[in-house]
Amino acid sequence: MGSDIYDPSFVKGVFDRCSDRYITFSLICSFGFTERWREQCVAAMPAPTTGGARGYDLMAGTGEVWPHLLKRFDDLGAITAVDISSGMHRRAMERLHAHRAHRIEFIEDDVLASDLPSESADFVISTFGLKTFNAEQHARLAALIARVLKPGGVFSMIEASDPKGWWLRPLYLLHLKVVLPLIERIFLRGAQDFAMIGTYSTNFGTAAQVAGMLRDHGLEVEFSKYFFGCATGVAGRKGRAEDG
Ligand SMILES: C[S@@+](CC[C@H](N)C(=O)[O-])C[C@H]1O[C@@H](n2cnc3c(N)ncnc32)[C@H](O)[C@@H]1O
Repeated sequence: MGSDIYDPSFVKGVFDRCSDRYITFSLICSFGFTERWREQCVAAMPAPTTGGARGYDLMAGTGEVWPHLLKRFDDLGAITAVDISSGMHRRAMERLHAHRAHRIEFIEDDVLASDLPSESADFVISTFGLKTFNAEQHARLAALIARVLKPGGVFSMIEASDPKGWWLRPLYLLHLKVVLPLIERIFLRGAQDFAMIGTYSTNFGTAAQVAGMLRDHGLEVEFSKYFFGCATGVAGRKGRAEDG
């Protein structure tokens, strides 16, 4: 292909083109697992220490995690969605989240190049936003999260992962690498954007390396596997000086 598939402008193109069909495709092609995993990602996040908490949904896309977040923490103050693809956000606000608009802010930016203020977040959440980054970008993301969280701030992230060691892994990989691209070619008139999402997912591995990077920045991190490792996540908090 010749392009760097981890170049933010390449990633933006993939998601701008996918935005119209992303919600349906992701729900159907994961057999509903993505919804369950978003809910589990929210459940894994320690409770913010203050009421009216404000924080970031990084790589927010269509805002699929917001209903889960607002259901668990109904006193949440505001969610600032950060995404490089305005197509994903526009679509989401029109179709799904108009009634939540007063609690949602949006920043269209490359997260890794963003200048989000230090110690500005009570929480950081991210669902399925890790796979389009390579290792060097994961390290920058970990540094960003450590910087923007307030002392005592909490975080949780989840990503579809390679279930190494699971006896049904070959079937799972067949689904990602062969079945999904085929469905896309047939039903979406030859497009290959969702196939790219499959490529990112199989390249990703697990969130274990991201856990290590977050720990290197002094965060307390718990690593979790979901459904035989088909998704993995990290959750935890930034300590406060008085915690020692
Ligand atoms: C697979 S979607 C996940 C969307 C949503 N969080 C969910 O749960 O479905 C990944 C999102 O990450 C965004 N993204 C990828 N690279 C980014 C970057 N460098 N900065 C900001 N957003 C990025 C894409 O535009 C896309 O909306």
